[in-house]
Amino acid sequence: MKSVLITGSNGLIGSACVEKFASEGWKVIGLDNNMRGQIFGDDGSTKKTGEKLSKKLKNSEFIECDIRDNKVVEPLIEGVDAVVHCAAQPSHPRSLEIPLEDFQINAWGTLNLLEMVRKNNPDIPFAFMSTNKVYGDAPNFFRYEVVGRRFENTQYDSFDEKLQIDHCGHTPFGVSKVAADLYCQEYAINYGLKTATFRGGCLIGSNQKAVEMHGFLGFFTKQILLKNKLKLYGGGLRVRDNIHSSDVAEVLHTWVCNPRPNQLGKYGTAYNLGGMRENSVSIFETIDACEAKTGFKAIWEEAPERESDHIWWISDMSRFKKDYPLWKGLTKDLDYIFNELLQNWIDVFGLKVKLKEKDYFRKIR
Ligand SMILES: NC(=O)c1ccc[n+]([C@@H]2O[C@H](COP(=O)([O-])OP(=O)(O)OC[C@H]3O[C@@H](n4cnc5c(N)ncnc54)[C@H](O)[C@@H]3O)[C@@H](O)[C@H]2O)c1
Repeated sequence: MKSVLITGSNGLIGSACVEKFASEGWKVIGLDNNMRGQIFGDDGSTKKTGEKLSKKLKNSEFIECDIRDNKVVEPLIEGVDAVVHCAAQPSHPRSLEIPLEDFQINAWGTLNLLEMVRKNNPDIPFAFMSTNKVYGDAPNFFRYEVVGRRFENTQYDSFDEKLQIDHCGHTPFGVSKVAADLYCQEYAINYGLKTATFRGGCLIGSNQKAVEMHGFLGFFTKQILLKNKLKLYGGGLRVRDNIHSSDVAEVLHTWVCNPRPNQLGKYGTAYNLGGMRENSVSIFETIDACEAKTGFKAIWEEAPERESDHIWWISDMSRFKKDYPLWKGLTKDLDYIFNELLQNWIDVFGLKVKLKEKDYFRKIR
């Protein structure tokens, strides 16, 4: 039986990977120290997700530990057949308040894992969850026009990996993730490690412990159902693409099972990973859909733009599609994602709300 070490295993993507790899017959070792609870407070805590998973998956092992604790992590790395690295300080606004901790977790933590792999188990695949924030606010350098209830980029249908990463603002989070992303590439180029980096757009699913500083769709659906006021930072026309955590896990599993070098025989490929145009939605479109599905009126106000925030992001996944032609693409559309999130909050808070318009996007698009 093959085994995989998944860091950040209580989090949104880590937990989806735990389920995916376990269902494919892997022995899973999950590592998490509930840092998300420390970073964002109790609303952000992922501890319960870990507890649920450890009860459900008897063949998996869950270890409460920091990725920077080499005494525990190094022996684990020696014994596994793959590493999927999802642990992170994941918020760009929060990183402005805790830049040193952000660097320590994201940049140093990733380098430290790579070094342990290089020394102890250099032939295994190492998948790294990176972010589209490595491109800083470069997406904002293009021209946008208002089309209906959203901005549209007048030059690009979506962004691929050739977008510049320098000469733009990142926030400390973007910088620590660029460092980690480039270290993954560097360890492939100079040490021959089998790495790849996956630059996520908005990743979403009901295991996300959404807070205002991280997880926009999860947070919006929660606030609308609880009738709390939303702040629309930078207005409502901004566009995000959304991919369900199970679709992310599928991509990571596909790569880990068959890591491919590039044409020069080197690993370290960077892949954009997101909901693409089909799962893109503006903030106003999000509010419209939530209102239609819940029958509630959202309460909101405009707020100043957040530092280095994207005006518009839609991922181009052509590179991954070309390298993995058998990948079946997204399996969860916007209606699936919205319905799941809303129903999850209805259950969590015991609300007496029956969802309507379950095919809202399918009808209007
Ligand atoms: N969610 C998104 O929209 C999104 C978008 C782009 C990229 N990403 C990236 O995907 C990855 C996973 O994100 P997520 O949404 O699942 O985040 P998450 O916060 O839900 O999960 C991360 C997990 O890592 C754990 N963790 C943090 N620091 C740790 C440490 N030092 N040691 C051990 N565990 C630690 C946290 O407790 C948490 O459970 C991250 O690298 C993130 O930057 C996420």
